[in-house]
Formats: sequence, C-alpha cells, structure tokens
Amino acid sequence: MKILGIESSCDETAAAVVENGRKVLSNIIATSLEEHKLYGGVVPEIASRRHAESISGVVEEALKSAGCTVDEIDAVAVTYAPGLIGSLLVGVNFAKSLALAADKPLIPVHHLRGHIASNYLTGAIEPPFLCLVVSGGHSHIVAVKSYTEVEIIGRTRDDAAGEALDKAGRTLGLPYPGGVSIDKISFEGNDTAFEFPHPKFADSEYDYSFSGLKTKVINYVHNAEQKGESVNVPDLSASFQKAVVDCLLINFEKAAEDFGYKKLVLAGGVSANSRLRKETEKICKKHGWELTVPEPEYCGDNAAMIASQGYYEFLSGVRADESLNAYATMPIDKSYHI
Ligand code: KG4
Ligand code: ZN
Repeated sequence: MKILGIESSCDETAAAVVENGRKVLSNIIATSLEEHKLYGGVVPEIASRRHAESISGVVEEALKSAGCTVDEIDAVAVTYAPGLIGSLLVGVNFAKSLALAADKPLIPVHHLRGHIASNYLTGAIEPPFLCLVVSGGHSHIVAVKSYTEVEIIGRTRDDAAGEALDKAGRTLGLPYPGGVSIDKISFEGNDTAFEFPHPKFADSEYDYSFSGLKTKVINYVHNAEQKGESVNVPDLSASFQKAVVDCLLINFEKAAEDFGYKKLVLAGGVSANSRLRKETEKICKKHGWELTVPEPEYCGDNAAMIASQGYYEFLSGVRADESLNAYATMPIDKSYHI
C-alpha cells in the first residue's frame, strides 16, 4: 500500500511516498529556515506564505521521484495538528482537495505520532516501547502501546527542550536554531564549567521543567555583561546541553524501570542531538535495553514519517472527510474521530 504523506506544521513543506509504512520511495522537503534565521525564530506569516508557494511543486516532485502517479497512490495522509495554524491549514487544504479530486481516502496524522513513526522508516522496531519525544514544541515521555495507542507518562510543564535550547542559543548569540548551534559548539566546551539546577516535582517523577535552566543561561550572560566580562560561550553551551540531556534522561530511565520497558526510542528534532544519543546509548547498554533512534535525515520535520504513521492509522480505521480541520494544539493520546 502506497501512502502520500504531506507535512506543513512549521517551516518545512514536505511530501513523501512510503510503501506499507516502512519503505521510503521518496522524501521531498522545502524549507523556509534561511528566511527565519534573519529574525531569530520562525515567523508564522512567512512560513504560511512559503508553504502556499511550495506545496504543489513539492507534492509533484514526491510523486515523480517515487515513480508513481496520483492514481497509483492508495491514500493521502496529512499532519492536521499540532503546529502553526496558518501553516497546518495549507497542508490540510491541499490534502483534502487532492484526496477529493483523486477519490482517495484521507488520513489525519498527529505530528508527534509522526515523529515516533520516523523510527519505523529505517529500523525493525515495533510497539510496545517507551519513547522520548523531544521537539521544538514538546517534551514527552510516551508509552507507545501499539501503533495507534499511546499514553503520556511525563511531559514538560513549561518550555519544551528544543524551545529552551533555541532561546538559550539566541541569548548566547548563536545562529538559529539554537539547538543545532549548541550541539556543534558544545564539542569545544567544558561541560562542568557552569552549574545548573535539576528541577523536580513532588507530584510526578516523570514531568520536566526547562524554563529555569534557560533563565539560568540568561542570568549567567547578563551577570557577565554587567561586570564588563564576556561569558565563555562553548563552556556555557556545553554545561547547559549537559543539564538538559541529564534532566531528560533521569526521568526517561526512571520511567523505563518503573513501567518495565526494555525497548527505548528517541523521536523529534532534538533526537538529532549528539549528546542525547550518546548518553541514551550508555543507559541502554548498562541495562541491556534495546535502543532505536531515527536516522538523522528523519529526526527533523519530514513527510515520510507522516506517511508511515498514516499507514498504521489507516489500518486501525482512521479516516477523515472534507470537514477535516487543522488544530494548533492537540494531545498526542487523542485519537481522531470524525
Ligand atoms: O521536530 P522539529 O524539527 O520541529 C518541531 O516539531 O518542533 O524540532 C525542532 C527542534 C528545534 O528546537 C531545534 O533546535 C531542535 O529541534 N534540534 C536540535 C538539534 N537539531 C534540531 N536540538 C539539539 N541538537 C540538535 N542536533
Ligand atoms: Zn516536528
């Protein structure tokens, strides 16, 4: 079964064709990242406009490079939530029109479920497993019970890990996105040079808080400025990245032990982080657990992951009609119902 996936939740306009949820036949991405760099973050209006300009060409290219016509596609899967509403609407409206015109089933896909599915594109992993979903907008520990049944074990109560990395990167004067810049520059720094708190909650051992860590970076930079000194950017980056990764993994390891999961998975843009990948591998080795991480090309936003999750949603009976809407927020554990 060939599924055409469409993704436009943030600044990537993407389309892909995936066979039976696992085999990528094409994966096309157009990004407006370079334009957003000028502003230090994604500008929603610019992102929506670029999606509208690129989407038909990107979909055409995805079909062409997969060597198939619209008629040979079995269904259209599209990200309908969560994300920037103006961006999501471009993909949703395009997918609705295409599905209607070509008389194909339409499958709505939750963006974060798509990130989890990025692991199905290159690995043999199957649920159940425990997944750390870390992106620009979310940080969740998710029990993936089946391809379409997920339960949130822990979540951030304020900033997402990626958001904290991006904001800290901006304070440190590093290019957007800060997460990528901090990953790179941290190799040159001393990760024990600066101290960071490890926030804990009395009522949950699995929830996260990253805003305090981010504020600590801002304070270190401002204090140095007030004294007329300059902060050591590689050292502060490395120490902050260590703190973020330590926080993520303390709770993730605890959740795996408490809930008895022996298969661990990373997903989302931040899963490209070299320290996070290395440290998760160490934990898995220590316990004899199996670790799956997405290939670097599937860590960030792409449509192959949407087509993959779309396949499993389709098998479970999920369908949308032309009344499908886009939603800026939507819990990952909520299944789609018309
Ligand atoms: O999943 P994603 O592409 O978009 C969202 O769904 O949010 O994630 C984007 C986030 C950004 O915060 C970016 O800084 C972060 O992923 N990111 C990284 C790395 N690559 C991307 N963070 C740390 N290290 C990286 N190598
Ligand atoms: Zn994403």
